[in-house]
Amino acid sequence: MTYTLTILGCGVMGQAVLSAIYKAPKATSVIKALYPSKIITCNHDEPSAQQVTDLISTFETSPNGIEVVSTYGKNVEAVKQSDVIILGTKPFLAEQVLNGVKDVTSGKLIISLAAGWTIGQLQAYTPSVSRVMTNTPAKYGYGCAVVSHSPQVTEDQKSLVSELISHVGKYVELPEKNMDAATALVGSGPAFVLLVLESLMESGIKMGIPLKESTECALKVLEGTAKMVEESGVHPSVLKHQVCTPGGTTIAGLCVMEDKGVKSGIIRGVEEAARVAAELGKK
Ligand SMILES: NC(=O)c1ccc[n+]([C@@H]2O[C@H](COP(=O)([O-])OP(=O)(O)OC[C@H]3O[C@@H](n4cnc5c(N)ncnc54)[C@H](OP(=O)(O)O)[C@@H]3O)[C@@H](O)[C@H]2O)c1
Repeated sequence: MTYTLTILGCGVMGQAVLSAIYKAPKATSVIKALYPSKIITCNHDEPSAQQVTDLISTFETSPNGIEVVSTYGKNVEAVKQSDVIILGTKPFLAEQVLNGVKDVTSGKLIISLAAGWTIGQLQAYTPSVSRVMTNTPAKYGYGCAVVSHSPQVTEDQKSLVSELISHVGKYVELPEKNMDAATALVGSGPAFVLLVLESLMESGIKMGIPLKESTECALKVLEGTAKMVEESGVHPSVLKHQVCTPGGTTIAGLCVMEDKGVKSGIIRGVEEAARVAAELGKK
């Protein structure tokens, strides 16, 4: 089977997902059937369509032979030709954009990237809906995607969603009740980690390490620690205690951070982001 996929709203996230699918390594013939032969990207204005054209011009030929056509102002024509639609507009524009194509969405699979849009809301347009929460590192293949499906999504469609979306980085299926938490942890997560990165960098600068070296060291500490947890499979608390020499520097630093409420501040911050995500869906 060959099919056409439309990305309805191809900005930051749409382009990240487009890049991931387009550059996916060459698949075996069975898996290749899960890839579109053509991707149509839809934007509102000419400059953003040109941005997608410029991005595609930096790509080599797609290993799975995918052709990309960048358009603007042609949502209905694009959706009409497509079996699968990725919704990549901002949440507040999703209703207007979906209403504009609702006469041609029936029976198609919608994969929605929109924060706060529930499966129930999206089913006003088609029964088969996969709700995805991903993040900006997807652009580099280090993203994370949390996915929930409507009951009408078939096993074949689940395989298609998993094959396409897994190229953003990590693919995790969870029930929809976890989606607001995933929006905070995964979608907003990079901003929270960047705050930690910035704090580490600035601590180095404050004590006289130049910006460049402070940045390199802070980055490697974050990357190395994440790899250590992933590869060892050991709980972070255990690894943290392995670094704490009795009466030493690390426990002294950790005590001050606990006094300042760093850990509960992060937990409460992520929780607040999830609360706001839940509100988005009600607007
Ligand atoms: N950015 C993140 O970190 C992040 C993280 C997790 C989830 N998300 C989700 O990803 C979705 C997209 O966010 P984003 O940051 O990628 O937004 P974005 O960069 O603003 O991209 C949205 C795109 O939608 C297009 N658009 C607007 N009106 C349209 C219309 N009538 N028809 C067709 N296309 C239209 C815009 O084109 P024009 O420029 O031409 O108007 C723009 O290219 C959101 O729902 C958000 O919740 C984002």
